[in-house]
Amino acid sequence: MSMLFLVLAWGTIIGFTWFAFSRILRLGKKADLAAADGGGRAQWGTRIGLILAMAGNAIGLGNFLRFPRQAADNGGGAFMIPYFIALLLLGIPLMWVEWTTGRYGGARGHGSTPGMFHLMWKHPLAKYLGAFGIFLPFTIGIYYCFIESWTLAFSWFSGTGAYWGNTSREAMSGFLQGYQGVAPNEFFASVLPAVAFLALTLIFNWFFLARGISRGIEVLAKYGLPVLFVFAIVLAVRVLTMGTPDPSFPERNVAEGLAFVWQPDFALLGRASVWLAAAGQIFFTLSLGQGMINCYASYVREQDDVTLNGLATTMTNEFAEVILGGTIAIPAAVAFFGIAETQQIAAAGSFDLGFVAMPVIFQQLPLGQLLGAMWFLLLFIAGITSSVALLSPAVAFVEDEFKWSRVRSVNAVFAVLLAGTVAVVAFFRYGFMDEMDFWAGTFGLVVFGVIEVIIFGWVFGVERGWQEMHKGAQLKVPGFFKFVIKYVTPLYMLAILGVWTYQDAVPKLLMHDEAEANIPYLWGARALMLAIVGLNLWLIAKAWRRHDRSPAAR
Ligand code: TRP
Repeated sequence: MSMLFLVLAWGTIIGFTWFAFSRILRLGKKADLAAADGGGRAQWGTRIGLILAMAGNAIGLGNFLRFPRQAADNGGGAFMIPYFIALLLLGIPLMWVEWTTGRYGGARGHGSTPGMFHLMWKHPLAKYLGAFGIFLPFTIGIYYCFIESWTLAFSWFSGTGAYWGNTSREAMSGFLQGYQGVAPNEFFASVLPAVAFLALTLIFNWFFLARGISRGIEVLAKYGLPVLFVFAIVLAVRVLTMGTPDPSFPERNVAEGLAFVWQPDFALLGRASVWLAAAGQIFFTLSLGQGMINCYASYVREQDDVTLNGLATTMTNEFAEVILGGTIAIPAAVAFFGIAETQQIAAAGSFDLGFVAMPVIFQQLPLGQLLGAMWFLLLFIAGITSSVALLSPAVAFVEDEFKWSRVRSVNAVFAVLLAGTVAVVAFFRYGFMDEMDFWAGTFGLVVFGVIEVIIFGWVFGVERGWQEMHKGAQLKVPGFFKFVIKYVTPLYMLAILGVWTYQDAVPKLLMHDEAEANIPYLWGARALMLAIVGLNLWLIAKAWRRHDRSPAAR
């Protein structure tokens, strides 16, 4: 039964990926990007570069660490039913909406959602609603860079064998916590190494952002993504050929591991939480509902396709998530630890799976140092191609609305980023990051997704939107999606938002289950987020006063 679901899901994804890319190849000469508009805004250099940059935006830590856990926790193969439904009714439509919104804004000089919404809805509030599309990704970026820096560090630790000898999960957990600065221990006397790797990570991010769209982000994606795919395929094949690592435990093997991810548990489909988890994962993994796709799409030329490119990006992400992400970490954990322990690992969180369980496994494999370095480098590439995207809307806002140079805009954004980063590192152990992740990285996405799709489908108007979307389109979207964008996507998201507010947001807001000692720090995280929102709103007001004074310069 589990194999049936695996084959169906893989087949669907491979089929659609093949459909999108064969069409792109077939449209051959026409497929190249149009010549530069010369409008003064930066643009992507090549079509393949654009698709890889967008795929890099979407493919992140979520694909390799969060997805397999979510699937295993929420009904295995049966999880793929709400997952594919959410992909079809939320993910793909919203992807097209964001590409279209972004290209429309970019052609008129705006790379972030305040300007885009202002164009689509002539109302003074529109630009302030667009603030979500800057502060959500920016806030996420603050802690995402920290996690990304762990992957760089662990790649180094794997290559050098720094954690070799710590063969139990307890020992590795101590190693990770020592590194994170949760508690100084025999492995790490201070948080200094973590700060050093964070600094290095930030420098890399700064570098690719400062070099701009085609020379920075596109180059990173063009070299990074192929490496990412090669590493992921090597690791997936390694896991699939793992057999039964310890013959004294015959039930601990890869087949069981795949079955654990894929075995459908239909009873769980009756639970709202499973449907929410599936929809949440779709938002997360496709980088939707946060102005990130809009921003990248603003560097697409107005006469270039968005429908086929949007589908190709979506499918590339799904390939990386369902096929590669679903085959590496969890099946490997089952083969080494067995089902019962893998359940504990999955319940303990994505970080335990990636940074504790996986290093224990590498120590038992031939060439483990190399495989470990590959695993963490793969995560680092997935991370950096997403973190530059998370920071891009803020950079585009400063650059477009204040007409600052690229480098100066990046510097300004990094100044604020650094201040936030210090707090995240210093207060990590009090759950500071989790608080930010809930409001910005989980709840906020759906709030903003609803706003976006309503502005597109109802205010701008679905007919106009549809026409805009089909300018230069190389794929005619089935008319059914017009109905989906207008009614189904917004209602589906409002329903999710309603249940989430009631079930999670209210208890979280009132801090029902938080440890007493952490509460002041959680308020600190909220204060930081509010400060970012405030700064953002103030800058929007300031930018628009400037636009009003010199309307020609917009
Ligand atoms: N889509 C990427 C991922 O899967 C990055 C990302 C975008 C993200 N938005 C996010 C990660 C929100 C966490 C939270 O990792």
